[in-house]
Formats: sequence, structure tokens, C-alpha cells
Amino acid sequence: MATRTPIRSKKAAAKPASRAAAKTPTSKNGASVKAASLTVTDNRTGKSYDIPINDGTVRAMDFRQIRVDSDDFGLMTYDPAFTNTASCRSAITYIDGEKGILEYRGYPIEQLAEKSTYLETAYLLVYGELPDATQLDQWTRDIKYSTMVHENIKKFIDGFNYDSHPMGMLIGTVGAFSTYYPDAKHIDDPASRELQTWRLIAKMPTIAAFAYRHSRGLPFVYPDNDLSFAGNFLNMLWKMSEAKYKPDPVLERAIEVLFILHADHEQNCSANAMRAVGSSRPDPFSATAAAAAALYGPLHGGANEEVLLMLEKIGDKKRIPEFIKKFKAGEGRLMGFGHRVYKNYDPRAKIIKRTAEEVFDLTGRNPLIDIAMELERIALEDEYFISRKLYPNVDFYSGIIYQALGFPVEMFPVLFAIPRTAGWIAQWREMITDPEQKIARPRQIYTGNRTRKYTPIGRRPRHDSAHDEANHQHRAVRLAPMPFASGKRAARTRF
Ligand code: CMC
Repeated sequence: MATRTPIRSKKAAAKPASRAAAKTPTSKNGASVKAASLTVTDNRTGKSYDIPINDGTVRAMDFRQIRVDSDDFGLMTYDPAFTNTASCRSAITYIDGEKGILEYRGYPIEQLAEKSTYLETAYLLVYGELPDATQLDQWTRDIKYSTMVHENIKKFIDGFNYDSHPMGMLIGTVGAFSTYYPDAKHIDDPASRELQTWRLIAKMPTIAAFAYRHSRGLPFVYPDNDLSFAGNFLNMLWKMSEAKYKPDPVLERAIEVLFILHADHEQNCSANAMRAVGSSRPDPFSATAAAAAALYGPLHGGANEEVLLMLEKIGDKKRIPEFIKKFKAGEGRLMGFGHRVYKNYDPRAKIIKRTAEEVFDLTGRNPLIDIAMELERIALEDEYFISRKLYPNVDFYSGIIYQALGFPVEMFPVLFAIPRTAGWIAQWREMITDPEQKIARPRQIYTGNRTRKYTPIGRRPRHDSAHDEANHQHRAVRLAPMPFASGKRAARTRF
């Protein structure tokens, strides 16, 4: 007869933190469920186990006690890419992907985009509440006081090639900040965490603008703290010989809205990198460099750059069906479409589409918007995209505005990283003070060889390896003559 082993997790008694926890548990058909537990029968042994359910989750560690015999390590869960695993409790950002809802600390993104400023939203993300007037004033002063960077940072940025990708410069420079602020390693000191919060939020626009000016061969422009956060960023980017830069209020507001929309997005790839790297307890500048590196990839914050390149490649509405066919056949992806969490229209994309029209009134219409809108229309009527619930995400329209504002495509991921810094730092602070968190260290299913005897090199049999092929190709490239053409990449070295 099957025996039943109750499994009680100490932490199961932890206070419910999410709105899911506040609800009385109900089954799919709406009937109330008696006990919040899962009964699992291990058919290898016939034993049954009661596993507590809290906040709609079971604890992976509760499965460890399920074993065949005393030599068995115990059952693990396998979830590559964390598709169904909650890695933390968080009270920062709420997403309902099915309904297309996004809230920061309970405030709908639509309300914040309409009424708030980036700095106010950053305060909300970091501290959990909207500030009163005095708090906002103090916070704004604390951030503005920190916008300058050490003069050596200019030399550091000057060390990059003129055609270096600005996102690479941003990642390198934010990592280098840990050498300028060694006090940042005191992560258990709340006052130090506070100071690094201001520094990070304040200095990201400065190094982003310096990276841009460097790539254009323009002199660096120092922060102007009379201006708003967005206005000062525009100043550091675009100021030429005028005594005082005056940002256009429509463009300033557009940047402000885009920054609010990008400020946080719960446990995405870069927030996860911030938490994972932060969990080994380095200073937050090092963790932010890791988060920014995660953001850089084309499947995450680099997607806005890819969308623009894709739209330019399509070039004409007539060619859309041909491209859709390719995407469906798996030849590349429709960039700016699809999301791990949203299975509905990304609410940020809707707001960006509206903001684009306001910007175009001033800058003139970016012709790529018409291709994008037609692409969206055709994709949303196509069975392939409908059945997979693929909708436009935040990156689909953002690049079109950035281009209309005069940014080169390489700056797009940088424009994502600046505001996301508030989200990363809020996630990091929550992680550092969460008693349940430890160093992030997943398990694996080992698939390699076991316990082999070392063979001296002369007695090893020859076998083909991936390394041989890669080495062959690499040598062919490295040994080819260097072009001296006046192309953009002519200064590249090959060693
Ligand atoms: N174009 C064509 N097919 C797609 C796309 C796309 N953009 N996205 C997903 N699919 C297909 C995919 O091929 C798969 O099909 P099948 O079931 O037949 O194998 C199915 O839809 C599910 O895709 P997935 O790769 O398992 O989904 P995921 O949750 O792992 O990936 C994603 C999410 C965002 C990486 C993906 O949708 C994607 O690559 N989109 C394009 C890149 C992009 O726009 N990224 C920005 C994301 S939003 C900004 C941010 O927060 O980072």
C-alpha cells in the first residue's frame, strides 16, 4: 500500500506577498480547493507526498526528499530558461501577460506614462511609494548632484575605437565605476546602497552621452543640472556651440515617456542577470555591467536596433508578405514581435505608437512607421502569429521614434539601458535585503563522461572536434591580407 510522507517547508509559513496569495485558492472551474497542497505519487516506489502550495507555486526543494533509496540524490526540477520557475518574491512590477497589464508598484503604466516623470517613477520603483513634493525635491537634488563623472572617465572612453558600439562602451564604463567608487562594495550598509543608487541612475545618461559624442568625434558636454533628467540628457547629446541648450519640450517629454516605459519589467533577462551576479555580492556597478550586457542581446534590449535594420531591409510595404513567409519558415524572426510573458499586445507598444505620432508632428513622419504598421496588420491576421500569440512588443515602435529623434541605431539599446537602471537597482536592493535569497547557483543534469583515465598525448587517438573546424576558419580570416580601403572598419586589427 502506498505510504504518504508529509513534506513541510519551513518557509512555507512565510507571509503571502503577492495578490495571488491573497485570494482563496480556487480550482479551474471556480470551486474552492480544500487544502493548498499537491499530492504526488512516485511510481518508482509507490510512495505519495503532500507538497504545500503557496502563492500558486510549489518549492523545488520540497521535491528533493522524493528518492528511490538512501543513495539517491533526490528529485530535482528541470527548467531551462526558467520558463515556469519563480526565482524570487518581488513587490516591484506586476505583469498580467494574458491581459496585457503592466503596473509599477501597483500603478498602471498608462497612468505613469501620462502623468509622471522618469525621476518620480524611478523613486516609486526604488522605494515603493510615489514621493511627496519634499521627497521628490530631495531625490531630484541627490540625483542631479551625482550626474558628473570623474575626469578620468573621459580618458577611459577616449580609449575606445571611434567605431566602438556605444553599448559596449556603456557596459565597460559602468563596470569601471567600481574602481572609482570602491566604497560601493559595502553592500550591507544601507547608506552606501543609497549613494550607489543615486550614482547609478545619475551617471548612466552621462556615460551614454559621452559614448555617443566619442563615436561622433565631438567634445564631451558636461551635465546641466538646471534641466530635467531627460532635458539634460538631450543637452549632453546635442549641444553644440550655443551658450545654453534648450530642449524642445515635445522631444523632452517623448524621452521622458520612453524612459518611464522602459524603467522596469520584473524578472526579464537583464534583471535576472542583475540579481544573479548581485547574489555573489559584488558592488552594484559590477552587477549593473552584467545586467547591461544581458540587455545588449538582440532577443532583449538589442531588439530595437534589429527592428530598425529589419524595417530598412524590407524597405517597401510590397515586400512584407515575402518577409512574413521567411519568418514563418524560421529564416530569422520578426523582430519586435513576441514576448515570454505577454501573450497579448504589449501595453508599452500601444503608448509608444501614440507617442510616435506626437514626435512626427515635430520631426516629420518617419516612413518606416508605415511599413511597421502594415507589417503589424498582416502579422496579426496570420495564423502563425495568432496561434503563437505573437504581438508587437516594446521594441517594435521605439526604434522608429529614436530614429526620428536623430539617434543612430547603435544608440537604441543604450536608450533602453539608461532608464532600466532604475529597475535593475530596485531589483538589486530587493534581492540584497531578502532573507530568502542566497547565491544564485542552479543545478544541472550532467550528460558527459564519467571518471576516465588520463592518456598521455602521444597515445591519444585522433578525433574530429568542433575546435578543428573553428580554428581552420579563424586562421583563414586572420591570415588574409588587411584591407586598407577607407571603409568604416578599416582600422580593425586581427590579432
Ligand atoms: N518571429 C517569428 N516567430 C517567433 C517569434 C518572432 N519574433 N517569437 C517567437 N516565435 C515563435 C517561435 O519560433 C516558436 O515557434 P514554435 O513553437 O513553432 O517553435 C514560438 O513562437 C515560441 O517562441 P519561443 O522562442 O519559445 O518564445 P520565448 O518566450 O522563448 O521567446 C522572445 C520570447 C521575445 C525571445 C521571442 O518572441 C523573440 O525572439 N522575439 C523577437 C526578439 C524581440 O523582439 N525581443 C524583444 C523582447 S521585448 C523587450 C524586452 O523586454 O527584452
